[in-house]
Amino acid sequence: MRRKFSLVTSVASLALSASIAMVLFAGAAQAQQKVILKFSHVVAEATPKGRGVLKFREVAERLLPGRVQVLVFPNSQLFGDSKELDALLAGDVQFIAPSLSKFERYTRKLQVFDLPFLFDDIDAVDRFQHGPVGRALLDSMTGRGIKGLAYWHNGLKELSTDRERLRRPEDIRGLKIRIQPSDVLDAQFRALGAIPEKIAFSEVFQALQSGVVNGQENTWSNIYSQRFHEVQKTIAVTNHGVLDYMVVTNAAWWNKLPPDIRSGLQQAMDEATAYANKLALDLNEKDRARIVRAGRARVEPLSKEDIAAWRKAMEPVWSKFEMQIGKDLIQSALKSNS
Ligand code: LMR
Repeated sequence: MRRKFSLVTSVASLALSASIAMVLFAGAAQAQQKVILKFSHVVAEATPKGRGVLKFREVAERLLPGRVQVLVFPNSQLFGDSKELDALLAGDVQFIAPSLSKFERYTRKLQVFDLPFLFDDIDAVDRFQHGPVGRALLDSMTGRGIKGLAYWHNGLKELSTDRERLRRPEDIRGLKIRIQPSDVLDAQFRALGAIPEKIAFSEVFQALQSGVVNGQENTWSNIYSQRFHEVQKTIAVTNHGVLDYMVVTNAAWWNKLPPDIRSGLQQAMDEATAYANKLALDLNEKDRARIVRAGRARVEPLSKEDIAAWRKAMEPVWSKFEMQIGKDLIQSALKSNS
């Protein structure tokens, strides 16, 4: 009886150790599996975002040799504006970096960045993004399955049109202006008496060239790399708003990554962020100079009085969105100016 019992237990323990070994083996195989991830974006590679993504790939593959492969798809090659967030949630792409104006369907809080003339300069934007309130906004969409990993700068926006005269708000009255998909930007141009049109980034050049719209607002690097200056007559140096990015990933995918891969990717993201943010101002200044040199669109510098007129004309947008965005949030963004 005792012998029979010990035979049964030793058979059972053999089976147990075999299954433990199988689990360990499967675990080891999984741990060694290469993670292939796609990073898709809509701009050219010679832009702050384009360069940031390449830096992320370089650092991630250096820190995690043989463990990750980063496939980069610039210029809306894989997904354009209207598809990239859905693709991220469907698991068809793992990293995207839309501008902060493109998250309205998922959170109203990021609308704070679209308020005209909120930030004095990009340093103020940086202080806000890296302070506790800005950092908390990275998690404002986790309930919707989107995790923010970092902010990346592009820069301040300028306004361009196909008209010779562009100095004062009345100069764009009645004109059609391309905007990103943001209700704040829609309200901004309506306040100016213009007609805003939401158009995907990849279609803007053609829309400007064919006259579907008369103008647009963007940073120097986007204007230059997309050749908008070749199909516009005047670019006014308004610096009226910010165009920055949030690098986001699929929260469920991120949380399931093996911890060493997750922390390696986070480190690569931190390095790419520092690199891209340092580069942004310089790249935009260089592209502004290139646009001037190209001599196609005329760059119109504005006086203090001109800027004050634009600021005043856009003021109604603030009260319209104050409740939706939250007064406290707006106040803490404003504090970053000092
Ligand atoms: C735009 O749509 O104008 C920008 O958001 C494009 C970009 O990603 O910089």
